Amino acid sequence: MTLIIAIDGPAASGKGTLARRIAAHFGLAWLDTGLLYRAVARDVLANGGDLDDVIAAAEAARVIEAQSLDDPGLRGPKAGDAASIVAKFPEVRAALLDYQRAFAAQEAGAVLDGRDIGTVVCPNARVKVFVTASDEARAQRRFLEHLGRGEAVSYDDLLADIRRRDARDSGRSAAPMLAAADALHLDTTHLDADQAFEAIMQLIAARVAGN
Ligand code: CDP
Repeated sequence: MTLIIAIDGPAASGKGTLARRIAAHFGLAWLDTGLLYRAVARDVLANGGDLDDVIAAAEAARVIEAQSLDDPGLRGPKAGDAASIVAKFPEVRAALLDYQRAFAAQEAGAVLDGRDIGTVVCPNARVKVFVTASDEARAQRRFLEHLGRGEAVSYDDLLADIRRRDARDSGRSAAPMLAAADALHLDTTHLDADQAFEAIMQLIAARVAGN
């Protein structure tokens, strides 16, 4: 039976790591939908455009290609911040919807993570999880990730970035970051990656058994 799993939540909540591990566990394909918005912002800037230019952003979204998502330059807080600027445009979101829905339509199913997967992209997903963690825990995680890569960053800057992005993502009128009414909730503030995976697998098992 097709198994579509939607994982939504704010930056550094742990949703990406969880989505990757869940996909590996079930042998499903995984799409990190944030990469699409990051790539749109990258392409607008590469074309000499302005992130606030809806026409340029929508055009970049319409011609996005899967292989261009495999770009290490898309990681990092600057790309995430730029992504959240183009992500507010309904025209950009509409242009990326077909790509995401086609990905989710694979026969076995798929795991998608983002902000609006359970609400807009895959409202019929069998399992929806909304993953959260405190602002401080999320900033600390990002801080350690950067440190691990030998990059100098300030914890305060990362915390400010996370809060600014949360406000933008929750406050926009087009597909704001929101838990679906039927989403399961997981707070990872006090959980390490293994504990979070265990907890989410229990939630998924209960939901799948109940369906
Ligand atoms: O990895 P992180 O949570 O920091 O960010 P991301 O998932 O790569 O998303 C980057 C930005 O893209 C977010 O801040 C959102 O503005 C936007 N996004 C979105 O609007 N809808 C999605 N389904 C995924 C990302």
